Amino acid sequence: MKRKRLLAGNWKMNLTGKEAAALASQIATGAANLQRTEVWVAPTFTSLAPVAQALQHSQVSWGAQNAHWEPCGAFTGETSVPMLKELGCSFSLAGHSERRHIFGETDELVAQRVFGILKGGLTVVLCVGETLKERESGQTNAVLERQLRAVLDKIEPEQVKQVIIAYEPVWAIGTGKVATTKEIEAAHACIHSFWNSKLPDTCPPILYGGSVAPDNFAEIVQVPLVGGALVGGASLTFEKFKKLIAISEEVTVLVRN
Ligand code: 13P
Repeated sequence: MKRKRLLAGNWKMNLTGKEAAALASQIATGAANLQRTEVWVAPTFTSLAPVAQALQHSQVSWGAQNAHWEPCGAFTGETSVPMLKELGCSFSLAGHSERRHIFGETDELVAQRVFGILKGGLTVVLCVGETLKERESGQTNAVLERQLRAVLDKIEPEQVKQVIIAYEPVWAIGTGKVATTKEIEAAHACIHSFWNSKLPDTCPPILYGGSVAPDNFAEIVQVPLVGGALVGGASLTFEKFKKLIAISEEVTVLVRN
C-alpha cells in the first residue's frame, strides 16, 4: 500500500501551554500543502487544549502521549480516551520506552492501554524497542516479538487500521546515538514479518524513533519498511522540525508496507 510518510513529534514533558501553542502555530504554517508527509504532534496533557486551538484549521493532527483504558474512574494521575477526544485528539501513544522503563509499564499494561485507545476510536502509536543490554545479548528480535505479541494475541482484524507501530531502540532515544540503517532495516523487517505471521498482509506502518535529526533523516526515510519517524528532541524547535518536514517532502522513495 502506498501512503504518506508520517512525521510525529513527541514533545514528552516539555513546553508550557503557551510555548506549545506557539510551536504548534509555526508547525501549522510549515506543514501546509504537503505532498508526501503527514505531520502529527503529541504535547503534554496540559498543552492539548491550546495546541488544539492553534492547529484547528491546519493539516496537522494532535494526540496524547498516553491514555487509560477506562473512560472514567478512580485512577489518579491518568487521562481517558473520551477526555482526549473532547480535545480533538486523533491518536495516543502507548508503551513508549519511558513509560515502560521509568514507570514500569509491562507488556500487559501497555496492551490494556492499546485496547482502550482502539475501543475509544483513536489511532494508537504502539512503541516497541530493545534496551542496549537486550541488543548486546542478541535478544532484539525476541523482545520486539514479545512486545508485539501482547497486542497481536488479542487484536481484532478490523482494529489493525487504527494502529501505527514505532520502533524505538531504547539506547538511541535522546542519546544522539542513532541506529545504523542496517539495524533499523533488520528491526523493521522483524516487526513486519512477525506481525504478518500472525495476521497475514496487515502489518501497520512502522516509524523509526531515536535521535532522528536533520543530518540523519534523509538516510533513515529511505530504509525499506520505514514509514516515517517518531521524533523527540528535534521536534521541539521549529527550525529542526521544519528541516525534517522538508527532507520528507524531498525524498521521493515511496512508503510501502
Ligand atoms: P529523541 O528523538 O529525542 O531521541 O526521542 C525519540 C523518542 O523517544 C520519540 O518518542
